[in-house]
Amino acid sequence: MATILAVETSCDETAVAIVKNRYIYSNVVASQISLHQSYGGVVPEIASRQHLVTINPLISKALVDSGLNWNQIDAIACTSAPGLVGALLVGLSAAKTLAIVQEKPFLGVHHLEGHIYASYLSEPELQPPFLCLLVSGGHTSLILVKDCGEYESLGTTRDDAAGEAFDKVARLLDLGYPGGPVIDRLAKTGNPEAFPLPEGKISLPGGGYHPYDCSFSGLKTAVMRLVTQLRQDDPHHLPVADLAASFQATIARTLTQRAIACALDCGIKNIAVGGGVAANSGLRAYLTEAARQHDLQVYFPPLKLCTDNAAMIACAAAEHFDRGHRSSLNLGVQSRLAVTEVMKLYNM
Ligand code: KG4
Ligand code: ZN
Repeated sequence: MATILAVETSCDETAVAIVKNRYIYSNVVASQISLHQSYGGVVPEIASRQHLVTINPLISKALVDSGLNWNQIDAIACTSAPGLVGALLVGLSAAKTLAIVQEKPFLGVHHLEGHIYASYLSEPELQPPFLCLLVSGGHTSLILVKDCGEYESLGTTRDDAAGEAFDKVARLLDLGYPGGPVIDRLAKTGNPEAFPLPEGKISLPGGGYHPYDCSFSGLKTAVMRLVTQLRQDDPHHLPVADLAASFQATIARTLTQRAIACALDCGIKNIAVGGGVAANSGLRAYLTEAARQHDLQVYFPPLKLCTDNAAMIACAAAEHFDRGHRSSLNLGVQSRLAVTEVMKLYNM
């Protein structure tokens, strides 16, 4: 069982963790949210520069927190794809340097495989095959987990990711960035049936709808039109809580229907949810109830493991390491890479 130090810098969190198999020794995250907030979203150049400032102190802190020394660490890993290129490069350079200086093997990790492995950290008994509903700011996917490095993408969004939809609708309602947590909070006091909103169904050429794919751009446009209309009707009062609740319920229903249909069709009993939107109370409630009705098991990792962190990256790297997978020190970063192509990161 390998002990891995991993670095994650794919977006706006600088994160370092030390994990042995499925046990977390240390897990530190420095969020950059406050730096990006005034821009209403992540500014890639600011993200890379801040990673540079934070990465070394965070590596030291992760090592001190773990109580381990370099001799007890078997390999160094980092997220190498997908993500913001400049941001990824900071983590990759730090990880490669550590690997060279400490004379340890190096492993690049796919960010989405990391999100899948977050479920193993909170459910160490979980075994493939299972279905992963991955819902973050950049991705919305239904992934069939067959084995380490062996994934099948069964469903996806055709446009905006679920978290992106939360962020865009929050901006429309002047609620700030990131949008998910604040919409979630407001939705608790609103009526989810106040405004009927369209579920983004994907039509198939021969008729009917794609069972697992979805779209959120139409939903976002519908909210925009509704807000314009409501502001015209009454410029002094916008029913923000009802809008938040109706929007959140539509997203939660859409994701739940796709995930349940996919699990039933594949004969899969376990659904693990990952990514920042897994924190959403509406999604948790809908999916948990639907799973119960269909006799399926659903797992939501704790929030700290849902949002971006390096423990999930280290956990994925630990299993690859145990299987003899290693990355070349010539490995570069990639802004895009399908989760089905994870094994391209390893050449040994
Ligand atoms: O996984 P994550 O930390 O970063 C990415 O890899 O994208 O996810 C961030 C996303 C943001 O879009 C944020 O608005 C959303 O997760 N999010 C939520 C909640 N908490 C975070 N969305 C809905 N409800 C929440 N409670
Ligand atoms: Zn992520």
